[in-house]
Amino acid sequence: MKSLIKDLVESYGPTGFESEVTDKIRSYITDYVDECYVDPLGNLIARKKGSGKKVMFSAHADEIGVIVTYIDDDGFLRFSNVGGLNLLTLLGNRVRFANGVIGVIGREKGELKDLTLDKLFIDIGADSKKEARKKVAIGDFAIFHREFCDLGQRLVAKSMDDRIGCAVLVEAIRRLDQSNHDLYFVFSAQEEVGLRGARTAAYGIDPDLGIAIDVTRTGDTPEAPRMDVSLGKGAAIKVKDSSVIAHPKVKNLMVRLAESSHIKYQLEVLEAGGTDAGAIHLTKSGVPSGTISIPCRYVHSPSEMIDLDDVQNCVDLVLAICRDPLEEF
Ligand code: CO
Ligand code: ZN
Repeated sequence: MKSLIKDLVESYGPTGFESEVTDKIRSYITDYVDECYVDPLGNLIARKKGSGKKVMFSAHADEIGVIVTYIDDDGFLRFSNVGGLNLLTLLGNRVRFANGVIGVIGREKGELKDLTLDKLFIDIGADSKKEARKKVAIGDFAIFHREFCDLGQRLVAKSMDDRIGCAVLVEAIRRLDQSNHDLYFVFSAQEEVGLRGARTAAYGIDPDLGIAIDVTRTGDTPEAPRMDVSLGKGAAIKVKDSSVIAHPKVKNLMVRLAESSHIKYQLEVLEAGGTDAGAIHLTKSGVPSGTISIPCRYVHSPSEMIDLDDVQNCVDLVLAICRDPLEEF
């Protein structure tokens, strides 16, 4: 599991450019599913056919990043965000472009409290616009350049949001035993800019039940905002975030299954943020939807931390859903 996670989190997959990630995922799961294809927006959709309920699971393959907007005469790049970036996590950090070019993020003089994105620049070691243009073009995307770290029970990397959700689904697919449902596992594109891939995937699949798998924040670090989710305390079953109110039938199903299968879980209310369930539940005439969240510290930073125990509990919960008759749907 650790090598799968390392492989996925060290991949290049900014929003809109998920193919390196989805290619890898495809190679991990292709022997375990009946069909596997990439749709026009870049979603990887894997299907395990069945005659029961149509269930859509979705974990997003994309990660937050930056896009080059301007190159100045001295070869410094100006950039915009792709997905939500905390400016303070950018300072001193490195980014990597698709072609492997590495850049360092620097800032103009001024008070930290007045920091805005347009006071930051990327230095790729070029000393002129001409030199810079040999390596990078306007509109090129870059991601955080950070290696995977194994702390034992806990793992740290960029893009745990949401490669860890992808890893949960890959592992569930590989361990899937009995299920008579028509199962769709979506590795969605463009979540970080507004749940775009999941929207079209759900429209095409038209599921009876939708489940997103994504990270959530925790309240267990010094002086953290008050939140009743902690690392290591189990799969977080979402009740609400700003994109969805989990359908009571879905939330109750997950709680029932967690209790009957002895899966460690906690209930989650996330005050700001959303997941693919936000798009899935508004599809066609509506889809009962919910989210299984992997607790994660330092979300949207280059060092997102998760606990392996939580990951296993999330895999177990996905499998429990696949095995259940799902009579209420
Ligand atoms: Co995110
Ligand atoms: Zn996410």
